[in-house]
Amino acid sequence: MSARQKDRDGMAAAQRDRLDAALAAVRALTGRPCDTAIILGSGLGELADKVVDPVAVAYRRIDGFPVSTAPSHRGRLVFGTLFGRQAVLMQGRFHLYEGWAPRDIALAVYLLHRLGARRLIVTNAAGALDPAYRPGDMMVIKDHLNFTGLNPLTGPNDETIGPRFPDLSRAYDPDLAAAALAAAARAGVAAHAGIYAGIAGPSLETSAERRFLRSAGADAVGMSTVHEVIAAAHVGLKTIGLSAITNKATGGPDQQPDTIEDVLAHARIAGKKIAALLAVLLPGLGD
Ligand code: HPA
Repeated sequence: MSARQKDRDGMAAAQRDRLDAALAAVRALTGRPCDTAIILGSGLGELADKVVDPVAVAYRRIDGFPVSTAPSHRGRLVFGTLFGRQAVLMQGRFHLYEGWAPRDIALAVYLLHRLGARRLIVTNAAGALDPAYRPGDMMVIKDHLNFTGLNPLTGPNDETIGPRFPDLSRAYDPDLAAAALAAAARAGVAAHAGIYAGIAGPSLETSAERRFLRSAGADAVGMSTVHEVIAAAHVGLKTIGLSAITNKATGGPDQQPDTIEDVLAHARIAGKKIAALLAVLLPGLGD
């Protein structure tokens, strides 16, 4: 066997070992069951305050797990009851721009799956490419465009985790997306339905890039989500994507500079709408 082949095999085994170690570390700290996993995006960490009877596990206590360094990302799993469901929340996610590899991002999703989650709710902060969207709005993600140039499944495939060529035609489960839109209507909060473009960051897009993403069919743009959703499809986790629209990103002549303070302030406004949607949606989801 060539050294190169050994490296490739080693990569797959290493990912499996990391996953086993991470699962064992969490299970040594809490046996809490969970059926629904939620990844909290920038400025959306407050949802964790609504968890009843929470148990928190800091990422640094999970062997082999990355540690989130992004602003407003706490870096812990929170287990507990959220709107009647047994939930596990990632308060703090991993981004390419922090230097994490796509496989680190996938590892977190595999862990949520191994902890028992059967559905994943991914939230994020995103800029509006659609000129009709306003900061503070919410968008249910129908589909994504992965503009990071990377894929978390690159490399040898571990068949014990998932198939080599996972189908992405229902990466954002259409029934769950429809249920999310219906829940928003029942909760009395407005929701767009649109396509999310994922970029690597950390610099924001140029105005020309924003106009290009719009012409490619995207409605909102952000620096997360796409690798998590690919990993979720790999293990068969049904996914809902929810974007907090935090800034105008149309790249037109009136494009204003973006600030992280403004992004986080609008994420909190949209976050309240996301919480209202989930308060209606989660209790109604089947097991
Ligand atoms: N671009 C990329 N990521 C973002 C944006 C944006 O305009 N807003 C919030 N996250």
